[in-house]
Amino acid sequence: MDETEFAAGQQLVSARVARIGKSAIHEMTRLAGMIEDVAFLSWAKPTSDTPEHIREAAVAAIRDGRVGGYSPTGGLPALREAIAEKLARDNGINATPEEIIVTVGAIEGLAAAIMAAVDPGDEVLLPSPTYSTHIRQVIMASAKPVLVPTLEERGFALDLDRMREAITPRTKAILYCSPSNPSGTVFGEETLRQVAAIAREHNLVVITDEAYEYFVYDDHRHFSIASLPEMRRHAISCFTFTKTYAMTGWRIGYLHADADWIPQITKAHIPFAICAPTVSQYAALAALRGPQDCVADFQAHYRKARDRMCARLDRLPDDFGYQRPGGSYLMFPRILASGGEDSIAFCKRLLREAKVSATPGIAFGPTGESHLRLSFCVPLETIDLAFDRLEAYLGRA
Ligand SMILES: Cc1ncc(COP(=O)(O)O)c(C=O)c1O
Repeated sequence: MDETEFAAGQQLVSARVARIGKSAIHEMTRLAGMIEDVAFLSWAKPTSDTPEHIREAAVAAIRDGRVGGYSPTGGLPALREAIAEKLARDNGINATPEEIIVTVGAIEGLAAAIMAAVDPGDEVLLPSPTYSTHIRQVIMASAKPVLVPTLEERGFALDLDRMREAITPRTKAILYCSPSNPSGTVFGEETLRQVAAIAREHNLVVITDEAYEYFVYDDHRHFSIASLPEMRRHAISCFTFTKTYAMTGWRIGYLHADADWIPQITKAHIPFAICAPTVSQYAALAALRGPQDCVADFQAHYRKARDRMCARLDRLPDDFGYQRPGGSYLMFPRILASGGEDSIAFCKRLLREAKVSATPGIAFGPTGESHLRLSFCVPLETIDLAFDRLEAYLGRA
């Protein structure tokens, strides 16, 4: 039985879960898996493997018999110590180890933060387009995602006037990722200072997803809203090792919040996870304590890959319009010549007929329609192969 039919027909599934549609990202992956030799631009995950010194640290921890048990709920003390140093050095966040919870990726940190801050029926403001998982996480908390359109013509910048207008007595939180998935937009310090002012004025919690913090280009700078001292009680900031150190499968991240928040968020973290995987915590410790040139290498590659993808899109001006991403490894071109097809139909046809896998923009909220998300965390050859095929498919070769 199809999953939607089961959810609708059997009345065994919670309304909260039944409301959530199929993930377009996973659906495209499934469809792409059925076709050979696809140029794959639809997964937002690093294609390189975790650096060797990190893997070796995990192997050593396994050999020494250090990974068989739970760690403390909040994470290994040495890891929290290293994270506190990193937050001070790179994010301007003055944190103690007690203000950190090590989580199962950024995703579990976000889920725990949302559960700790948001009640059923509360409204959460999200920029649109935004990472589809954030929208689902708000629904999972029985809260209402309120999607605030961004300004596409200004590189998908936050529209602060619309954000203010969207606030109601039920608004409880603002949830964003910067650099953004799917658009690659970096919300700069000036904008985030205004978000902070709005949050304080309306007593809102700002939950951040800073997964792509190290991948910013040109003159963009990553800014953590929790670095503003006045935001201490109003910010919960989620980070991850997934992107920075190519550690997708290790499921390891962390969050920072004011000390008063930590016992409250821990109440949500325990039933979701008990603790993050112990073996991955040793790997994460090695990542933070070890050489950082792998991060610089990833960053240099993504910058080059972004430039290549933009250059290839420049050759298709009648087919796609795009905003140059300032960060992440994702971009969100507008489909100019869709022939009336929606983004799902467009992507399915592209996959079937051109063997190029992209993610339909509708997955990222209603303003994502008529767009595709393309990932450039792939070898340059994959970008070239995908665009050679696109050009042939669109009759531009
Ligand atoms: C914005 C954003 N946040 C979080 C994640 C997942 O992070 P993690 O693997 O740390 O749970 C992704 C993965 O694509 C992402 O794009």
